[in-house]
Amino acid sequence: MYKILKADKLAANIYRMVVEAPWVAKHCQPGQFIIAKMNEEGERIPLTICDYDREAGTITIVFQPVGASTMEMAKLQTGDAFEDFVGPLGQPSEFVHEDVEELKKKKILFVAGGVGTAPVYPQVKWLHERGIQADAIIGAKTKDLVILEDEFNAVCNLYVTTDDGSYQRKGMVTQAIQDLVAEGKKYDQCVAIGPMIMMKFVCKLTKELGIPTIVSMNPIMVDGTGMCGACRLNVGGEVKFACVDGPEFDGHLVDFDLAMERQKMYKTEEGRAILREQEGDTHHGGCGHCGGDK
Ligand code: NAD
Ligand code: FES
Repeated sequence: MYKILKADKLAANIYRMVVEAPWVAKHCQPGQFIIAKMNEEGERIPLTICDYDREAGTITIVFQPVGASTMEMAKLQTGDAFEDFVGPLGQPSEFVHEDVEELKKKKILFVAGGVGTAPVYPQVKWLHERGIQADAIIGAKTKDLVILEDEFNAVCNLYVTTDDGSYQRKGMVTQAIQDLVAEGKKYDQCVAIGPMIMMKFVCKLTKELGIPTIVSMNPIMVDGTGMCGACRLNVGGEVKFACVDGPEFDGHLVDFDLAMERQKMYKTEEGRAILREQEGDTHHGGCGHCGGDK
């Protein structure tokens, strides 16, 4: 069992839990995710890691209830436990493999939207711990939905923008990027994590601005194990699976329209049948767990 050491609410409908999971905490890197299961029969819920403490042996997750399982999960309290908490899964963010001295020469801009702010945090923190101060934009619909502001302020140069202008800058994250560039900021790299529609439009803009951009395709994952085929993507003309090959990809190569269309279809029985017909077996293969390769 994996005990919840602390459960609190960051904003209306956004929950945070600190979970005792020493093995995951020891081995995880920014960009990776875990799969939580509340009980034997429970659904597998893939969630990107929001923070980790190797010494305390804890992992922090942040989530927004969107279906029956996450709504049940939101009821868990401090002292309750997960039956299963598997990870770390997926590939770490690319920069963790880069030479730190080379990274120090780069100006990186992180763009975090809504609940997608949570998975950005371990990335800016990792860089800060190595003496690299990135810029970050947090975008939220309103003031009440801005999360982790203090945590970000401690590890990067933060710009907050709200769609309605109720706090700090006014407008969506794309407006904030344009403003920062107009103010003379130059970026070598952008990392954008948030709703698919946000990542699509950030990528459209950064392509025009000539800033290479990484995105996290976590939102299209379902089982997170390479078995269900839900997270199949077209990246630069190649088939990729977010949960196995990602979740992070070159955003300028991701076909967002196809990904959003597939995500919609995958929600219904009929849609899944059409996808099977069009794509054949959507199983990723090679996972070694489900026997689908045999
Ligand atoms: P939201 O709809 O409140 O949007 C957050 C911000 O994204 C907005 O304030 C705005 O600045 C920006 N944005 C939204 N639409 C945009 C557009 N068309 N153009 C430019 N910018 C735009 O976000 P939310 O309701 O908190 O987010 C929920 C979504 O986040 C879910 O769909 C979830 O799947 C996704 N999410 C993604 C990740 C990931 O790893 N990519 C992680 C957690 C959650
Ligand atoms: Fe099911 Fe990736 S989430 S295959």
